[in-house]
Amino acid sequence: MKLASPVSSMCAVLRHSTLICLLCCSAFAESGKTNIEKEMRDINTVYLDLRPILLSPNALADPKVKERVERDVRRIANEFHAVRKQDKRWDNDPGYQASLKLMRDTLRDVAGRIRGGHTEYVRWRLLSLESHCISCHTRFELVDPFPQNYSLPEGMSRFEKATALLAMGAYARAEKALVDASLVPTDDQTPIESMRALLTLYVRVLKDPVKAIATFKDIESKLKLSHDQSVEMHSWISSLEKWKPSSAKLDTKSAQERLETARHLLKQAGIYMPLRSRSTPVDQYSNHAVELLRATSILHEVLTKEKLPPAEAQEADFMLPLAYDSLDQFFPWEYTQYLYEKCIRRHPKGTYAEKCFNRWNDLLTLRSSGSSGVMLSEADKRKAAKLKKLAGI
Ligand code: HEC
Repeated sequence: MKLASPVSSMCAVLRHSTLICLLCCSAFAESGKTNIEKEMRDINTVYLDLRPILLSPNALADPKVKERVERDVRRIANEFHAVRKQDKRWDNDPGYQASLKLMRDTLRDVAGRIRGGHTEYVRWRLLSLESHCISCHTRFELVDPFPQNYSLPEGMSRFEKATALLAMGAYARAEKALVDASLVPTDDQTPIESMRALLTLYVRVLKDPVKAIATFKDIESKLKLSHDQSVEMHSWISSLEKWKPSSAKLDTKSAQERLETARHLLKQAGIYMPLRSRSTPVDQYSNHAVELLRATSILHEVLTKEKLPPAEAQEADFMLPLAYDSLDQFFPWEYTQYLYEKCIRRHPKGTYAEKCFNRWNDLLTLRSSGSSGVMLSEADKRKAAKLKKLAGI
């Protein structure tokens, strides 16, 4: 994978509403694991254990600490590997697969770099993992409410605490902490970053537009937002207002009806185009975050739970990355790119394969561009050629 310098990459991470994160090494790790909850508790223990190390820039200079972090990271990478084999409930959702794969790839990359002394890089990559916990835990509401009583290490900022709680799926505590973090911004963290995470929680997990509006208005009454932040927040409020009348539970609707809702939401956001259109419109600065977040949540759920006929399955696999493409302030770009890849691999030469390839390739080019032009590794070139062939271009 191509990476920018640690400093610019760190900025990229900070721009996403997320950060932090990490993992493992717990007492009950070796006992017979049979389900995802157990793996996750284990992963969570490591996540909390590593936290203080990530807070202190020099901790990784100590060889003993390095050794321990490497061991924990390798172990947790294997646990994420095991999760998929053990629990297939979410397996048909490319988003779930994307989070697992990106998590594993990142952990393996980090494990290989610790000994080489790439300390800043390792810290940054470990912190960035949190965004994958969040993508997964806010896909849609998870089955069991998570335990809410984990204590967090000292020394974390309000924003770090809030996103760590969201990463752990402690939804109620995360909501409160994100409001706190919005109200007390720092030089590093603007209120809008906490508010974006809060919006994700209200729309995808709690599905509560009324509470979302009340909270954002309350924050606005207590805080001076910049012009741009205020415009962004008001665009959410007007979308949330429109959502109110139809916020009835989706579960009662058929898969076809839910797909139609997703299509409609993408049209409202201005990014759904007729198939014959040559381009794939992507609005990078979308003021339609609410519609797009709602669409992603519906699509994840339909893809997870329904056996769709081939034409609809292809369309859903295309609509999913299309929606994420305009949510680049909310989720990591690798996630969107991997979903485009899945759209090609799950339907080679399919109806949408060319569009998916073109956007996959755009993202590759965008991320590989520097002052000396586009620099693609041999591996990137091979992958691009392979996907192009699969797409039938
Ligand atoms: C690939 C998706 C995915 C990723 C990535 C992920 N989780 Fe989970 N996590 C799950 C699922 C699925 C469950 C079980 C949900 C259920 O049964 O409702 C879960 C459950 C949990 C639980 C609750 C366990 C229990 O006791 O029930 C915790 C805590 C947790 N995850 C922490 C984390 C942390 C911390 C990270 C990031 C380091 C993370 N997870 C990354 C999918 C994921």
